[in-house]
Amino acid sequence: MEKGGNAAQRLLQGHYLQLQARFAFQETGHYSSLVVPNGNGRAPVHRWFHLKEAFSCGLLSRVVADTRLEDQPSIRVLDPFAGVGTTAVSLANLAAQNSLRRVTFHGLECNPFIQLVGTAKLTAMQAPTKTFGRLARKVAATAYCGKVQAPPVPDLSTFHNDSYFDENDLDLLLRLRASIDLEESAGAGQQDIALARLCLGASVEPISSLRRDGRALRYVPTKIRARPIRNFLARAAQIEMDMPDERVAVQGRIHLGDGRSMSCVPPRPTFDLVIFSPPYPNNIDYTEVYKMEAWLLGMFEDPLGFLSQRLNTVHSHPSIKREAMDDTGLSHVTDVVAPILDVVPEDHYASQRRAMINGYASDMARTLESAWNRLRPGGDLVYVVGNSLHGNGEQGFIIAADLIMAEIARRLGFIIERIDVARRLRRRHSESPFLRESIMFAKRPNS
Ligand SMILES: C[S@@+](CC[C@H](N)C(=O)[O-])C[C@H]1O[C@@H](n2cnc3c(N)ncnc32)[C@H](O)[C@@H]1O
Repeated sequence: MEKGGNAAQRLLQGHYLQLQARFAFQETGHYSSLVVPNGNGRAPVHRWFHLKEAFSCGLLSRVVADTRLEDQPSIRVLDPFAGVGTTAVSLANLAAQNSLRRVTFHGLECNPFIQLVGTAKLTAMQAPTKTFGRLARKVAATAYCGKVQAPPVPDLSTFHNDSYFDENDLDLLLRLRASIDLEESAGAGQQDIALARLCLGASVEPISSLRRDGRALRYVPTKIRARPIRNFLARAAQIEMDMPDERVAVQGRIHLGDGRSMSCVPPRPTFDLVIFSPPYPNNIDYTEVYKMEAWLLGMFEDPLGFLSQRLNTVHSHPSIKREAMDDTGLSHVTDVVAPILDVVPEDHYASQRRAMINGYASDMARTLESAWNRLRPGGDLVYVVGNSLHGNGEQGFIIAADLIMAEIARRLGFIIERIDVARRLRRRHSESPFLRESIMFAKRPNS
């Protein structure tokens, strides 16, 4: 939001300042490098698939120390937006170092490919497999020698554009898929199959001329494309290298489910820590950005299946029209979002933007209420969230997700201990103090 601005923008600025005054803000810098995926590209297991919206593999240990959870004999952790399993793998690493005893983790992730990645990683820590390398080489050989037929090219226009994919490379990827399916029907272990699918999914972007870029896939004509089989085998070799020698004693799993309701995680026993980074209200549509992997693996059969997946996600993007919104919880916070709705410019996107803002607040209200129900009295709630700039120039405005969520959490009864501003975000044409990424620490009261 810019200095000056119109009356509605000044009201929004005042509204944010009022909300902000209710919470203890600090800027310690302790988390500045931890709210982004720093180190994940080099860390064993974490590096099996790069999710650019992940937080750092170093975040959890810092949170566990800062919340003094490391002093407990056992710990139960829940991440409702588990992504590629950064929390799960970090927790397993703490357990492996004996920093924590008796560890349980449950996660939820609604995107089938991203959930497969997180699950494959966590399972590898819980029960390392020694047979995966052999399976991967067999799969590659079968695909390379043409002993299997490629399934039809998925019904996604990206795969039908020969500027993006070489036809022969795509055929090899599809033969890898058929070869994995063949091994599965021949009785190969589910864990090895999941790891092979992870390697295949992770090979799709490198063999294309596309690059993930913020909210979209960008065509990069000069990109050097990887070779499909070689890329697949290199990933498999990395997994073999990172495979732990021993089982790590972590109970639990990552469920394919909705992080807002958390309904597939039983309410008892309760958790000591609920930690997450939800989608930010920044127009990123995860289903779209990670669509190639899921389509290639046959996780969507047709455009309807793809659409229904997009409709299952948090309202972080206005790119799809949603018929009816589950606005459970929104009624308690209409006054929190009203000043944001008032600044939305009356243009072509106005109604979808308003639906996104309402939907986001409602989704976060449901998530925080579910977190409350899953936490033990005295348990910790920690989340990382970023604020985002919408619209252009004079009409630009900020959705301060950190303040909206903190206010919802406060109204639910959480004790908000502090909000640490981890990073200031730079955007052209805006110097707003509300453009930031923060980490929030709260507690469910003891009684
Ligand atoms: C910011 S990312 C979380 C990344 C995670 N912290 C990590 O390090 O891998 C948010 C995740 O929420 C997922 N998501 C979106 N809507 C969801 C929903 N309704 N239920 C569960 N997960 C959802 C997205 O697919 C995405 O993976």
